[in-house]
Amino acid sequence: MSLRTLESLGDLSGKTVLLRADLNVPVSKGEITDDGRVRASLPTIRSLLDAGARVVAMSHLGRPDGAPDPAFSLAPVAVRLAELLGEEVAFPEPGDARVSLLENLRFDPRETSKDDSERGAFAAELAARGDVVVSDGFGAVHRKHASVYDLEKLLPSAAGLLIVAELDVLERLTERPEKPYTVVLGGAKVSDKLGVIDALLPRVDRLLIGGGMMFTFLKAQGHPIGASLLDADGLDAATGYLREAAERGVELVLPTDAVVAERFAADASSTVAPADAIESTEFGAAGLGLDIGPETAARFAELIASSRTVFWNGPMGVFEFPAFAEGTRAVAQALSEVDGLGVVGGGDSAAAVRQLGFSDDDFGHVSTGGGASLEFLEGSTLPGLEVLGWQR
Ligand code: 3PG
Repeated sequence: MSLRTLESLGDLSGKTVLLRADLNVPVSKGEITDDGRVRASLPTIRSLLDAGARVVAMSHLGRPDGAPDPAFSLAPVAVRLAELLGEEVAFPEPGDARVSLLENLRFDPRETSKDDSERGAFAAELAARGDVVVSDGFGAVHRKHASVYDLEKLLPSAAGLLIVAELDVLERLTERPEKPYTVVLGGAKVSDKLGVIDALLPRVDRLLIGGGMMFTFLKAQGHPIGASLLDADGLDAATGYLREAAERGVELVLPTDAVVAERFAADASSTVAPADAIESTEFGAAGLGLDIGPETAARFAELIASSRTVFWNGPMGVFEFPAFAEGTRAVAQALSEVDGLGVVGGGDSAAAVRQLGFSDDDFGHVSTGGGASLEFLEGSTLPGLEVLGWQR
């Protein structure tokens, strides 16, 4: 079986399509700070409207506690979606408008329940609201959640245009990457990434490690890291990956310098230190690394630019603070110049490049999936794709 696409749903004129999108965008003080995922959902919505369907869109936002919480409302997303579409979006209940958006699915604890019957019951309630399902929330396909997995089994269902586009690029990364193939990993979710390193080591030529997780590797090498982020549970794994990379002849490239700050703040004093001597600065053991240093940034840029295939997930530093954004900027710049396929993977990295002034067109592809694209590259089973007939 292969992925079911929109054509498999036949004539949609007059039908109500339940659209599972990933509209999980960063929201600060009620304002959307990066609307990339809303924009990425538009082609499918427009094509459904053109086909004469009504669209009931649904998504999660953040990780509320299974109960309504205004901080996680999709209300700002409904407003933005209406602006971008240029038409009314009913929220949170469908009205006369052609497009509506339901409230955050995770306000119901059954959406993410581990219990199949609880999820099934919620999915049945959702299914009663429409005729067919279009699943297009690529960023959530690694989640076995009611709206991503169970709902798709209850009605005729197919993948939307975003999922098709994402798969097209990610399959090129796993099936036929042009060499040299470089993966750049960063970000703060250390333990999330240690698994992907395991899976990628046999497949890539170079693995560059920056961001918060670099300190766990530096610590594993026996270097003092001051007050930098440490994933103590990941230390053994980091040691193992260093050994395995050496055995396999994979270049696992760690930073040689870091920007060390006095404290975690946008206006903190900072200085550059060798990566193996982070405590040697005037801040002593209280200093914490918040970005890769300039020497590392230049080295990473060189390795990226000389690759034919590059996948990047995770900022190199605390890019939200301008003083600690240079490493991320250097990687983004080099990626935009790759002669081949350069992919920005993930919510955080995508938000970072946009915040730094890059446009999606500067890269081969900007994925909407963070965890989803990593799990795809890892070779994991993705429930939200499998249920649409997709197989590796
Ligand atoms: C993401 O941001 O990666 C997706 O929207 C999935 O969100 P989750 O990690 O909270 O399930």
